[in-house]
Amino acid sequence: MKKQAFISAIAATALFAVASFAIAQSASVQSLRGLDIESQNVVEDVYKQDKQRFTRNYRQQPPLVPHSIDQYQIDLNANQCLRCHDWTTAGDRNAPTLSMTHYLDREGNQLDRVAGTRWFCNQCHVPQVDAPALVDNTFEASSGSN
Ligand code: HEC
Ligand code: HEC
Repeated sequence: MKKQAFISAIAATALFAVASFAIAQSASVQSLRGLDIESQNVVEDVYKQDKQRFTRNYRQQPPLVPHSIDQYQIDLNANQCLRCHDWTTAGDRNAPTLSMTHYLDREGNQLDRVAGTRWFCNQCHVPQVDAPALVDNTFEASSGSN
């Protein structure tokens, strides 16, 4: 009698294990905070970079970048944008040269190397993309560009 009870206990345990395995397979994966991880994995619409050059919206606007910049590192020591845009290389690379303003330091001295204040190009120049505005707004281009 005792032995039989023991065996059915083992059988019940095995059945429970199989059942809970099946449930674990079908249930969604939860994060530690209790969020359903699958629902966090939604890929947003991807907007492709527009290769056409956009007109500037106002005279002082830093022109938008008409090419990808993923590959070009900018850090304390390296600035790969200069490989094509510095006055020493732009001719060979057929790229627009940095304008004179990029070679003026804050005291107005003309430099041969790009000014420190212009080092981090993507602080002002962002890749252009024809995507809807992130926030609704009533921005209009200044009259000069229309
Ligand atoms: C391999 C060469 C190359 C590199 C590296 C490069 N560019 Fe360019 N860039 C070009 C060329 C060529 C054009 C002109 C494209 C055209 O006219 O359609 C251009 C255009 C631009 C323009 C538009 C200028 C204007 O007057 O409209 C900006 C701004 C710009 N690049 C910024 C950057 C920044 C910032 C980086 C680094 C993150 C960078 N570029 C790296 C080749 C390069
Ligand atoms: C502080 C903001 C700022 C930073 C940083 C900056 N730029 Fe500019 N850039 C501008 C503005 C504003 C213009 C347009 C007016 C002008 O030419 O000065 C411009 C113009 C340009 C042009 C077009 C020049 C022409 O004559 O059509 C290129 C190319 C360019 N920048 C590339 C770069 C690159 C590459 C870097 C990084 C080494 C850089 N810029 C850093 C603001 C910036």
